[in-house]
Amino acid sequence: MNEDNNKLFTPVTIKNFTFKNRIGVAPMTRISADEASIPRQDVFDFLVRRAENGAGLVYTEAIVTDYESAQGYPRQSRITTQKQIDAWGKVAAEIRKKGAVSIMQLFHCGRMAWEGINPANRVIAPSPLSPQQDNPMTGAPYPVPEEMSVFDINHVINGFVETARGAMAAGFDGIEIHGAHGYLINQFLSSYSNKRTDAYGGALENRFRFAREVIQAVKAVIPDDRLLFFRISNWGIADMSVSLFSGPDEWQDLIRMLSAQPIDALSVSTYNFADTAFGTNRNMAQLTREVTNLPLLICGKIHDRKTADQAVLDADIALSAKSMLLNPNLVEEIREGRDLPLYSAEEANRAYTGEELP
Ligand SMILES: Cc1cc2nc3c(=O)[nH]c(=O)nc-3n(C[C@H](O)[C@H](O)[C@H](O)COP(=O)(O)O)c2cc1C
Repeated sequence: MNEDNNKLFTPVTIKNFTFKNRIGVAPMTRISADEASIPRQDVFDFLVRRAENGAGLVYTEAIVTDYESAQGYPRQSRITTQKQIDAWGKVAAEIRKKGAVSIMQLFHCGRMAWEGINPANRVIAPSPLSPQQDNPMTGAPYPVPEEMSVFDINHVINGFVETARGAMAAGFDGIEIHGAHGYLINQFLSSYSNKRTDAYGGALENRFRFAREVIQAVKAVIPDDRLLFFRISNWGIADMSVSLFSGPDEWQDLIRMLSAQPIDALSVSTYNFADTAFGTNRNMAQLTREVTNLPLLICGKIHDRKTADQAVLDADIALSAKSMLLNPNLVEEIREGRDLPLYSAEEANRAYTGEELP
């Protein structure tokens, strides 16, 4: 099978960037960084190899936005020192040379941290509530976070700004603000984790305030010719079965609010892109598309030609994580319409070992 004139292999333009196809490498944390918060060389090589092998878009792992409270996993990366900027700069340049667009994802874990994981050892969140489940990496309960003061909020926003500056200095084509998966920004957005009674809590408009402030502060330091994306989900890494938003109306209100912000695309992360959502007969991409004209990226169990073709019916770009991680030839094999496996989370845990990726 080699029918290249379908949507999946038709280029798409977002602002001033043309993506050669609609298959991208989803952001994936690799916990490989050294003491200088710089990833292992094979982690860099893995990203460049995916660009070389045909991905239209390559995301970095989630980059931690400060030294104080942003880190949620061991050995995450940062991009504020010159050494870090130089190391990532080579990767951004290589990805461009191979013809893909590069996006660096920025992340603050909020309450998804543990004691001692951050150099300054703070665990902060919108409200002093921990997830119900234990941390699978430590086997212990997540610590109860400190409720963020307005000073904390501004300090964290500054971390996003400094990190965005680093990503721009390294030459990335764009930045994504990680507002998904139950991490800090998502914690503010969802009434499941945000019980504040000040201007940052209560009605969705208020819970949205922190996300809006981060977006606007980051936007102010990004040149006009670079991209700013935002990632969102209705689920978190902890307490996974909880619906973080109350239903299709709250979801669509949130999407409308995001669409009024100076962002260039929305990335929606799901368990399975094809699943219907919130008891409706529509999937997350369809529900999102109904209320926004922003370019849309979708992710969740997209692993072969059939699923990728189906995913781009309702979205502009299909992202794959586990299959991109484990199969270096995914794009070509999707193009050929090969039978491809759906990898499990356990298989993807290879990302967190010292073993080199293919
Ligand atoms: C090893 C691994 C690391 C991940 N790290 C991140 C991350 O840093 N940022 C993020 O937004 N999502 C992260 N994810 C989630 C993926 O981007 C994606 O949303 C999820 O795996 C579903 O896609 P899939 O079914 O194609 O694997 C990670 C997933 C895996 C498997």
